[in-house]
Amino acid sequence: MKQLDWSNLPFGYMKTDKNVRILYKNGKWGEIEESDSEYIPMHIAATCLHYGQEAFEGLKAFRGRDGKVRIFRMEENAKRLQSSCHATMMPELPVETFCNMVERVVELNKSYIPPYESGASLYIRPLLIGTGAEIGVKPAKEYLFIVFVMPVGPYFKGGFAANAYALVRSFDRSAPLGMGKYKVGGNYAASLYAHHLAYDKGYGSEFYLDAREKKYIDECGAANFIGIKGNSYITPKSESILPSITNKSLMQLAADNGMTVEHRPVPLEELNELDEAGACGTAAVISPISRIDDIELDVSYVISKDGKPGPVLTKLYHQLRAIQYGDAPDTHGWVTVLDI
Ligand code: PLP
Ligand code: COI
Repeated sequence: MKQLDWSNLPFGYMKTDKNVRILYKNGKWGEIEESDSEYIPMHIAATCLHYGQEAFEGLKAFRGRDGKVRIFRMEENAKRLQSSCHATMMPELPVETFCNMVERVVELNKSYIPPYESGASLYIRPLLIGTGAEIGVKPAKEYLFIVFVMPVGPYFKGGFAANAYALVRSFDRSAPLGMGKYKVGGNYAASLYAHHLAYDKGYGSEFYLDAREKKYIDECGAANFIGIKGNSYITPKSESILPSITNKSLMQLAADNGMTVEHRPVPLEELNELDEAGACGTAAVISPISRIDDIELDVSYVISKDGKPGPVLTKLYHQLRAIQYGDAPDTHGWVTVLDI
């Protein structure tokens, strides 16, 4: 195991030993290759550079108290990548290839998997890019799929601590019939300015409403929104947000806990009725929300008066983490256990 300050890792890039790659050429996927380079040889007219023909994923591996490594719901990420492939005219990568490559890259970099006690994890970043040269706007004929990893700590300051969010009305990250439900780079480019505005003012992240009417809650930066009202778990249904695998898992855990799961459009005003709110995602896990400030209209929605996480999200957070680290039984078949 590497000597790193495991308990104080940021959520950031770090070079690890190896990445794995596969090329798509002449209408088919080639062989999986290992590389120790952080760089990609690239044609100046590659479609990913000019026309954003790319998609990525994000998932995590965790080292348990028993020393085993668990990868969380990687088939779901493989399937979501396939949906991004359809949307961007890229060749579908078989789920099996995706999973083989994820397992292999985790094993190749096992000395970077944080120890159980640190509460950190190994972030896995799969990336698919159009590498073929085109100058007319059309899909490439060649692609590169690459998976690399790095140990990470919490995405938001303070880990499981409540953050304030800034509702930004003058930017949309995606359009109603656009690409918001796919994990493609363009959505993140569209979010950079709004994120900068929010972050500069000291907020955890930006907060988006639906682009059509600005009436309903969409997402919290790079995470889905969840609200708790009484015994209900409420989360937005929208055509322009990413279907979060963390949210899907939490909806299941909430139902297992006997809660009512409401997956429906959530009007902004409903924030006034919530007992708790949070942002959820692979990087964010659950990040409780203390307050949402509508910075352009100068209105504040205070969710947590004492600025502390509420009991329901705290329970869900611990239940999810327990499954991921192997401290609780994996009753839904969500984890792939590696004995490495
Ligand atoms: N929404 C956006 C825009 C994201 O980038 C992410 C991160 O992947 C999520 C939601 C959460 O999705 P998941 O739980 O699958 O990581
Ligand atoms: C994730 O949660 O995996 C993300 O992709 C969020 C962000 C780092 C893009």
